[in-house]
Amino acid sequence: MKPATKLLAVLLAAVMLFSVCPVFAADTGDTALRFREDGTFKIMLFADPQDDEDLEETTTAIMCEALDQYKPDLVIYLGDNTVADGYENQQKAIEAVTKPVVDRGLPYSIVFGNHDEEHNVSKEELLAIYQSLGNCLTYDAVPSLSGCGNCNHPIYASDGSKVAFNLWMIDSGMYYEDRDVSYYDIVHEDQLAWYKETAAALAAENGGKPVPAMDFQHIVIPEIYDKLYVEMPAAMGKLTQERNGKIYSILPVFTRLNGYWLEVPCPPDIYDGQLAAWKEVGDVIAEFHGHDHNNSYQVTIDGVDVVNVPSCGCNSYSVDVSRGCGLITLHENDPENYDYQLINMYDLALAKGSAIPGVEGGKSKAYYAMIKVLDTFVQAMFKVFRVFYKVFPDGLI
Ligand SMILES: [Fe+2]
Repeated sequence: MKPATKLLAVLLAAVMLFSVCPVFAADTGDTALRFREDGTFKIMLFADPQDDEDLEETTTAIMCEALDQYKPDLVIYLGDNTVADGYENQQKAIEAVTKPVVDRGLPYSIVFGNHDEEHNVSKEELLAIYQSLGNCLTYDAVPSLSGCGNCNHPIYASDGSKVAFNLWMIDSGMYYEDRDVSYYDIVHEDQLAWYKETAAALAAENGGKPVPAMDFQHIVIPEIYDKLYVEMPAAMGKLTQERNGKIYSILPVFTRLNGYWLEVPCPPDIYDGQLAAWKEVGDVIAEFHGHDHNNSYQVTIDGVDVVNVPSCGCNSYSVDVSRGCGLITLHENDPENYDYQLINMYDLALAKGSAIPGVEGGKSKAYYAMIKVLDTFVQAMFKVFRVFYKVFPDGLI
C-alpha cells in the first residue's frame, strides 16, 4: 500500500470508529457515556451542597473521598449547588463545588434548585460557567422551555451499538407564580411535552420500546403526600394539613418509610402531571431529588421509585445521621434492578486515612463512630418496618 493510500485508510478507519463511538460534545448533548465492559454504570449524586465561594472543607472532603472510594462513571449535582452573591462569587463557588469532580476528569451534570438563581446571576449565566469547567454534560435542550438546563443524557450499551439507558435532567423551578396556589414551582406543561417528544424519538430508535430511564430534579413530585401520609376526611386543626386539594395527616405512616423522614417534604402544593407523564411514556423507573436536606426516604409510587438524596454539604442545614452522597449502580442487562446506596459521611470519616476528622469543621472519629451506632440501630428498625410493610402495604390505617 502506498503511504498516501495507507494514510487515507487510517483516516477512514478513524472516521468509522468515531461514527460508532459517541463523542463528548456538551453543546449538542452527545456524550461518551457508556456502560462498562462488565455491564455496570455508576452515578454519584451530590444534593444541596448549598455553599458559597468558601466551600466548607468538610464538604470538599466528603466529595473527594466518596469519589475516590466508589469511582463513579458520572456525577450529578441535584440542585441548590451554589449560593454565593454576585457573578464573581458564584463563579468561584461553582469552581469550588465542581473541583473534586473536574480534578478527577469525570463527566458531570447538574440541575438547578430553588436557591441557585437567587443571588443576582441568572441560570443561563450559571450554566455557562458550569459548561466552561471540565466535562460538564448539561445543556439547555430547548432554551424556550420553562427553566434552564432541561436535557437528557443517553448511556450507550457497552458495545456502543445502541442507547441502553437514559437520564432526564429536569429543572423543577423555584417558586410558583401564584403563591396562594402553591409555594414551590411545578414542572410545567411545555417541559412535559418536550419530555414526551424526546422519549418518543428515543423509543423509535429502540424498536418502538421505551428506553429505560431515571429522572433527576431538585424538588420531589407532589404525589409523595399520597404515599407517605393518610388522606383525612376532614380538617382537624394542627393534626392535618392541606395540599393537592386534599387533607392529609400531619405525620407520615412510618412503616411506609424506608429511610429518614426528618423534615416535612416540600413539593409543589398542586399536581403537575409529571408522574402521569412518566406512566404514559413508561420509561422512568426512578426519580432522585434533593431539596429536603435531612430526608433519605426511598418509596415506590405507582411503580416509580422516589428517592430523597440528603444533603452532602456542611454549610446549610443537614444532620450527621443522614448527610452523605447517593450512589446508583445500573446494570445494562437488568436496568429495572439497579442498586442504590447512601454513602454516609460518618462512614467516609471512619475509613482509614480519612481527612474528614482533621479538616476545619470535622469532628473526632469517636463522634462519627457514635453516629454510626445510632444510625445502625435506626436502620435495623427500618428493616422491621419493611417486613411490616410487605404484610400491610398501606399500613394499619
Ligand atoms: Fe437546598
